[in-house]
Amino acid sequence: SLQACLFDLDGVIVDTAKYHYLAWRHMAQQLGFDLSETQNEQLKGISRMESLDIILRLGGVVLDQDTKEQLASEKNQHYLELCAQITPQEVLPGVLDFMNEVRRAGIKIGLGSASKNARLILQHLDMLPYFDTIVDGTLISRGKPDPQTFALGAADLRVPAAACVVFEDAVAGVEAARAAGMKAVGVGDPEVLAAADRVIPGFKDFSLHDLMTLFQK
Ligand code: BG6
Ligand code: MG
Repeated sequence: SLQACLFDLDGVIVDTAKYHYLAWRHMAQQLGFDLSETQNEQLKGISRMESLDIILRLGGVVLDQDTKEQLASEKNQHYLELCAQITPQEVLPGVLDFMNEVRRAGIKIGLGSASKNARLILQHLDMLPYFDTIVDGTLISRGKPDPQTFALGAADLRVPAAACVVFEDAVAGVEAARAAGMKAVGVGDPEVLAAADRVIPGFKDFSLHDLMTLFQK
């Protein structure tokens, strides 16, 4: 039975996925090429440096390590500027109601994010107290789709993988959850997130009861 819910951050709890995209797209355009929304799907859930490598490959651009690190740091500065105004009001609809219900049911809550900015964003949202564990990009050596992020979260909560449900908006994140032996609920487009066990459009009007029935069918 369900003992823990593990949440991705960007694109699941708050729509920072759009800021990551804006910042990467701006960088790509400065390098002379565009970054489409379809191309951006393969960046979701992927670490900063790996994302940069994918983007440079898409643009057919080869750069040395120093220049790449410079670009990644500029992208992050831009991203943080875009995030600076985030307030608790930007928590996506229904997320807090759902988490409160999960807590009341005695089910643990964990964060599993590739982002090194995850704690900062949660701070902006006043959401740090919701989490029994926080696994972010500073703690992992292998990013999604590797299962490490979620495996670490479950281990910290002392919950077996089979008793965890992961909420993810990224293809790589869904893959990571499945590879960890957990159930994956995609949050977003069912065509993009076809590998998920179930897909929901968001948490608005989504209850723990809905989650249970998703996995009874
Ligand atoms: C993930 C995002 O949550 O974090 C990716 O989906 C991002 O787009 C990754 O690249 C790393 O984030 P950060 O904030 O450490 O650059
Ligand atoms: Mg995400």
